[in-house]
Amino acid sequence: MKLPSRVVLVDVGPRDGLQNEKQTVPAEVKIGLVHRLQDAGLKEIEVTSFVSPKWVPQMADNAQVMAGIQRRAGVRYAVLTPNMKGLEGALASGVDEVVVFGAASEAFSQKNINCSIEESIARFAPVVEAARASGVVVRGAISCAVGCPYEGEVAPERVERVARLMKQIGVQHMGVADTIGVGTPLKVQRALEAALKHYSVDDISGHFHDTYGQALGNTLAALEMGVWRYDTSVAGLGGCPYAKGATGNVATEDVVYMLQGMGIETGIDLDKLVDAGHYISEFLQRKPNSRAATAILNKRAA
Ligand code: HMG
Ligand code: MG
Repeated sequence: MKLPSRVVLVDVGPRDGLQNEKQTVPAEVKIGLVHRLQDAGLKEIEVTSFVSPKWVPQMADNAQVMAGIQRRAGVRYAVLTPNMKGLEGALASGVDEVVVFGAASEAFSQKNINCSIEESIARFAPVVEAARASGVVVRGAISCAVGCPYEGEVAPERVERVARLMKQIGVQHMGVADTIGVGTPLKVQRALEAALKHYSVDDISGHFHDTYGQALGNTLAALEMGVWRYDTSVAGLGGCPYAKGATGNVATEDVVYMLQGMGIETGIDLDKLVDAGHYISEFLQRKPNSRAATAILNKRAA
């Protein structure tokens, strides 16, 4: 056990959380969410995606959202960029970090970004080069690192391959993603070990969807390996349009509550975070999908 003493959470709620919403969320609401997250102490926020608006209409207001944010020093603003066109938009909007997102499964790569794994790496290569030349940090994501909605179980060797290919083209950080939330702690550890063959523990993060209620357990399993960065989503928002049935990322509130209880520092104010989750949940007219947020809101109401 080598539990970290400090953990960095990247709130992906404005992007992963909202990309799958059927109702249009106006840019001002997305901006309001980003502001509340930074008020709560989040130091990195995944704001939006520069993807095709035909594929993901909810993210079509990417430039407007980026332009509307009152930026705070010390906060890193990240966006998804699948290709050069996405990168051009991202750079024009002044991002700090871009994410190239590949997959460990061929079928998911085809459904999500309309190309094979190999083609995706060839597409990412100039994106990585141009982003780094502009001083923008490049993070990679490997979707379906333990299971795929189309191919079923995914072996760690397939994660190792994509991590290797991404490392070769200069991707600086690797996110290991359980896109559909089917992972359990030992399987997640094996997927992380595969990525650790090419990235140091300081350059690895976990991205766990909570479809089967395993995401906190998977986070703990990753913490035990020393992994200290996680993507989480306020109010447990989210899902991917190309992974039907998958629910949101693990709720940021639940992870913060767990880490605080373990004496691990996050720099996040849980009460303010609950307010951020409440804000977006009110807009979406549903309750936050977070046990910790629900408990805190119930306690406030009592
Ligand atoms: P394609 O159709 O093969 O692209 O899509 P294309 O290059 O042939 O272009 C077709 C049209 O799209 C053209 O427009 C392009 O200009 C336009 P037209 O001439 O027909 O009018 N286009 C773009 N427009 C705006 N921004 C762009 C862009 N690129 C092309 N960047 C493409 C390929 C990758 C674009 C498409 O498949 C796509 O946008 N996919 C994105 C899917 C997505 O966003 N999925 C959700 C995010 S991933 C995720 O959630 C997983 C993650 O959370 C980790 C995990 O949990 O696993 C990260
Ligand atoms: Mg995701």
